Amino acid sequence: MEASYKNRRDFIRQLALGGSAAFLAASPWLKVLAQSENNTKAASDRVRLAIIGTGSRGNELLRNIMNYKDEQNFEITALCDNYEPQLEYGKNYCHENGMKPKTYTNYKTLLENEQIDGVIIATPLHQHAHITVDCLQQGLHVFCEKSMARTLDDIRIMYDTHRSSGKILQIGHQRLFNPVYLEGMQRIHNGQLGTIGQIRAYWHRNNNWRRALPNNDLNFERQINWRLYKEYSAGLLTELMSHQIQVANWALQQTPVSVMGTGSIRYWNDGREVDDNIAVIFSYPDGTQCIYDSMTSNKKYGLEEQIMGNLGTIEFEVNRQYSEEPPATPGIQQLINDIEHGIFGKLPIGNSSWIPETASKYNGEPIISDNEFSDTAMQLEAFIGFIRQGKAPEKITTEGYNASVWTILAEEAIEKGEKLTLPDQYKI
Ligand SMILES: NC(=O)c1ccc[n+]([C@@H]2O[C@H](COP(=O)([O-])OP(=O)(O)OC[C@H]3O[C@@H](n4cnc5c(N)ncnc54)[C@H](O)[C@@H]3O)[C@@H](O)[C@H]2O)c1
Repeated sequence: MEASYKNRRDFIRQLALGGSAAFLAASPWLKVLAQSENNTKAASDRVRLAIIGTGSRGNELLRNIMNYKDEQNFEITALCDNYEPQLEYGKNYCHENGMKPKTYTNYKTLLENEQIDGVIIATPLHQHAHITVDCLQQGLHVFCEKSMARTLDDIRIMYDTHRSSGKILQIGHQRLFNPVYLEGMQRIHNGQLGTIGQIRAYWHRNNNWRRALPNNDLNFERQINWRLYKEYSAGLLTELMSHQIQVANWALQQTPVSVMGTGSIRYWNDGREVDDNIAVIFSYPDGTQCIYDSMTSNKKYGLEEQIMGNLGTIEFEVNRQYSEEPPATPGIQQLINDIEHGIFGKLPIGNSSWIPETASKYNGEPIISDNEFSDTAMQLEAFIGFIRQGKAPEKITTEGYNASVWTILAEEAIEKGEKLTLPDQYKI
């Protein structure tokens, strides 16, 4: 932990201090991780946090933030979950790590009783907006998991309350703090990939995306498997695509002008309401297209965002960059490669000069060498740092806002079978 914490600090510090103006303008939240001077051990400097929603993600956030309990002066003062077994789980984990938070099953009681600086909200999507608004209005800084909210109006209300309260609203897009993404974005924003023509992104899984119900009791179905029902979630769009449209917007430094898409329940015909198979196209003002698809009945291609420029390609999830002009392969190796791949066999004999358009076999280069970072932990460390400063770069909020509105608009485009633009009242 120590070594990795130090390496990561050095890496982030170098990026924050040595990054180009274009890069730092595109990723202004980075600087907070390079500033440790405000992190004194004094009790008066301790950042007091509550977590609302200690389910799967809430507990993951708890585990991640505990990584910093020795380096960062913070305390988990309270936990809240309206489902007792999950609350208990979070409480026990805190106790094992020397923290003794009070526990609540109603977040309003927590807000009435606790002296805290900030909250971490990890409830299901449809519960984000009203909890966030109540917390901001009470003068608390908020870290809320992605995606922001279930409707465009709720997303807008969260944003407006953040503005009127002056409190931080950070959305849980952890890639914003991932060193592979940060270094890759620096290269994109410095022009290393040339002109980006397309972004291709996808998230493919092969499972039913269901969670087991306590004692197989069907009364828990909608509470536990909320992701599968439209009242609570837009399924693959809000749960998965929201991360990747955020990456596309960040890479392009623009937000889309339109979205169209289609979707279906192709395989998991098990009573769910959300699509298990979607395809969406976002168009950007400069003509770039972002082509997105997600499915849950084939995992061969996994998860990726491919940023494709005329000079090169970046694939963030596998930490690789590919030049359009790869280093020359020695002649004899090239010949062996061509024979192995049957290139000669495919050439028509004696007439046309047509050559098959094969994909490059070149395997690219890693973007960064040390990949042992937890972006989830770093975004929480940043949240603590922002609270200490009393403010965060506005872009940390707008990244989440733009990803969220275009995600919900994609759902509407699929449902209506139309190409949609963002109505003026949701533009910020
Ligand atoms: N950033 C990421 O990579 C990532 C990964 C997974 C989930 N998430 C997000 O985290 C959020 C939670 O997802 P999850 O998988 O943990 O769901 P979950 O169902 O496992 O957990 C949600 C918890 O919230 C509790 N809850 C519901 N309503 C509540 C209320 N009014 N007050 C207090 N607690 C309440 C539930 O009892 C449950 O324990 C979602 O928004 C999801 O999109 C983000």
